[in-house]
This record gives sequence, structure tokens and C-alpha cells, in this order.
Amino acid sequence: MKIFYSIDEFLKNQLQIEYFIPTMGNLHDGHLSLINQVKGPSKGTCVSIYVNEAQFTNQEDFDNYPKTLNDDIEKLNSLNVDYLLIPEKYDIEKHSQSFDTSKEPKHITTELCGKFRIGHFLAVMDVVDRFFQIVKPRNAIFGEKDYQQLLVIQELIKICNYDINLVRSPIIRNNEGLALSSRNNLLSNEERSYAAEIYKSLKYAKNLYDDKVKIDDITEQINKYFDELPMKIEYFSIRDLKTLQPRYDDDLIALIAVYLGKVRLIDNIIIKSTSK
Ligand code: PAF
Repeated sequence: MKIFYSIDEFLKNQLQIEYFIPTMGNLHDGHLSLINQVKGPSKGTCVSIYVNEAQFTNQEDFDNYPKTLNDDIEKLNSLNVDYLLIPEKYDIEKHSQSFDTSKEPKHITTELCGKFRIGHFLAVMDVVDRFFQIVKPRNAIFGEKDYQQLLVIQELIKICNYDINLVRSPIIRNNEGLALSSRNNLLSNEERSYAAEIYKSLKYAKNLYDDKVKIDDITEQINKYFDELPMKIEYFSIRDLKTLQPRYDDDLIALIAVYLGKVRLIDNIIIKSTSK
């Protein structure tokens, strides 16, 4: 694996990037599963590691974001990754244009997580747009755990007319059902013992839906579920799977964000699918 710290160096090599996987480092099996979406022999796969401060809505959250570069490099070396890009902020800005904020798809960026993390998705769109301008990949791989982010990137590709295929990678969970996330490392042992309740609550929501319970009543029951637990629910919402709008006549997804102490965790489950 060739590591680039400078974008000039990266561009000088005129690489053909088939698969691009942008990350903020602190790589876990969830990230590695994104890379494992690339099947077969080496195909010009590029991973980036860049902790985008602008997308953190809370300074403490940014300061606490785990940085484990040496471990990350070791993990990537053992996988089918050809290039690793570790750029600095000034270098990214020097080689790309910012996202035109007047094109923000607010119908999706200001809902759900976007309602509580003002400006978060705009900052994600900006940095991913900049990486797309620099890396020019044929395919970009994003995880379904950050489902709203996935749809925001889908919008970005449409808005900017990129000829990039968005590859979705399924959620990876630990044995207890907790979706893998870099933030799990910040949980105390006690908090960790409750974290599996998040996925349990989503499965409960799906069972209620299968039992024909009304959407409003499911939402009420899930909020009650967390009343009994030492965690704070930020939102639970059932939305249209394709658009994330509050429409219930097509496939559906339930999305949740909770606080366990200071750690914010998100998860989701498809509760109605005609295509899978
Ligand atoms: O999902 C992430 O890790 C980040 O939001 C991303 C896509 C790397 C942009 O900074």
C-alpha cells in the first residue's frame, strides 16, 4: 500500500481510482467491511483518513475523537488497499472547490440527525465533494449504519453530476447486536452493557410494525422503552426508506439516536422492504 501525505504527490501519479472509501480513521471491522466490498484482486482501491473538524457540532466530541493512525495503517496494510491518502486541511482546500451551500438539499440535511447537529451534513457534503474532486473515483463506498449520510451523499452525486457509483455496505454488529462505531470505544464498561438495548429496541419496533401497530404508537412505545434505561433518546423515527421523508406508503426504515452518558450512538433497521 502506498501512502500519500501530499495531494500534489497523489495527483502526480495520475492514478485510476476504482474504489474510494473515505474515513476519519480509528478503523474497526465496520470500516474493514467497507473495504471488503471490493472483491477480487487489487483494483485501484483508495482509503482516505481525515478527521473533518467542521462536521463535529461539539468541540469536545472532536477533541475526543480517537486517533489511532499507526494501528489504522497496520490494518489497511493487511487488506486489499492500494493507496492511503492522509491529507492536511490546507492541502484539501488548495486542491478543491467548496460545495455550493445554496444547493444544500435541506429536505434531507435538516431532518433527523441534521435537526440536532446543525450544519453537520453540509460539512460532510463539503468534505466528500472535495475528496471526489481530488480522487475522481469510479465507485465510492459508504456504510448503511450512517444511513442518512448515505442518502446525503447520493444527493451530492446528483447535485454535482458526478459519474460515481455509490456502493452501500451493510451494518456490522458485535455479538450483542451493537452496531460497530468508533464511538463505541468511548463507552465505559457500564455504558457498554446497556448499548445492546439500542438494536433490541429497533427489533422491537419492527415486531410492533409486523403486528400492525400504528406508526405513532410504535414511536411512543420506543420512547417509553428508553424511560426504563439509563440512556437518553434523542430521536426515534420511522421514515420512507428511499427519501427519509415521513411517508408510510412504501418501504420503511426506523432510525434512532441515543446518548449513553456523553456518547451519542445511532442505528437503524429496515422495517418494511418489498425489495429484499
Ligand atoms: O462517515 C465518516 O466517517 C465521515 O462522515 C466521512 C464520510 C469520512 C466524511 O468526513
